[in-house]
Amino acid sequence: MDTTVSVQIVMPQHCNGYSEPRLFGGQLMAWIDVIGAVAARRYSGRVVTTACVDHLTFLHPAFLNDTVVQEARVTWTGRTSMEVRVDSLVENLKGKRELINRAYLVYVALDDEGNPVQVPAFRPVTEEEQEEYRGAEERKLRRKNQKMNRVAREREADGDGQGGTS
Ligand SMILES: CC(C)(COP(=O)(O)OP(=O)(O)OC[C@H]1O[C@@H](n2cnc3c(N)ncnc32)[C@H](O)[C@@H]1OP(=O)(O)O)[C@@H](O)C(=O)NCCC(=O)NCCS
Repeated sequence: MDTTVSVQIVMPQHCNGYSEPRLFGGQLMAWIDVIGAVAARRYSGRVVTTACVDHLTFLHPAFLNDTVVQEARVTWTGRTSMEVRVDSLVENLKGKRELINRAYLVYVALDDEGNPVQVPAFRPVTEEEQEEYRGAEERKLRRKNQKMNRVAREREADGDGQGGTS
């Protein structure tokens, strides 16, 4: 699977105002969403919308003037959705890289009317791709369970509300 790569230098407008300015988490998230969307667009040949962002783990900070390298690739596909893994790394002047964030996002491909549209099925080939694919299926199951729990809680809350007015 092709990897989409982007490179940024952390500028003052990307940082907080600490004495040693650090990259804003929200700025990194914006970069993650853009490169993830580009990977999904390239894979599907469609415009895409972000359905879900999860597993956004900030492992290390990035500082003013650091070089941030990002790598994104599709790990799994459903019918119209694609999971994309985005790794963000800090690169020092000698080229050594350190992972600062790993994120998994789900994008949905859209047709010209803005409706979800089928994407080509992703078939993992390498051992790493197969491992990511299995992980993606577990993440999908977890998301589904979270959604079901949320719906159940909302229903329960609605039920309580009705009880209070009767
Ligand atoms: C994402 C969206 C297009 C899904 O539309 P929908 O009417 O629920 O469509 P469907 O039920 O047919 O779902 C389409 C696909 O999205 C997936 N999906 C929907 N919500 C999801 C979620 N929260 N997490 C992961 N996947 C999700 C479904 O599993 C389905 O995948 P599949 O076709 O591979 O099985 C719609 O919810 C939407 O437009 N959301 C807003 C997206 C947006 O504005 N993003 C930018 C945020 S600022």
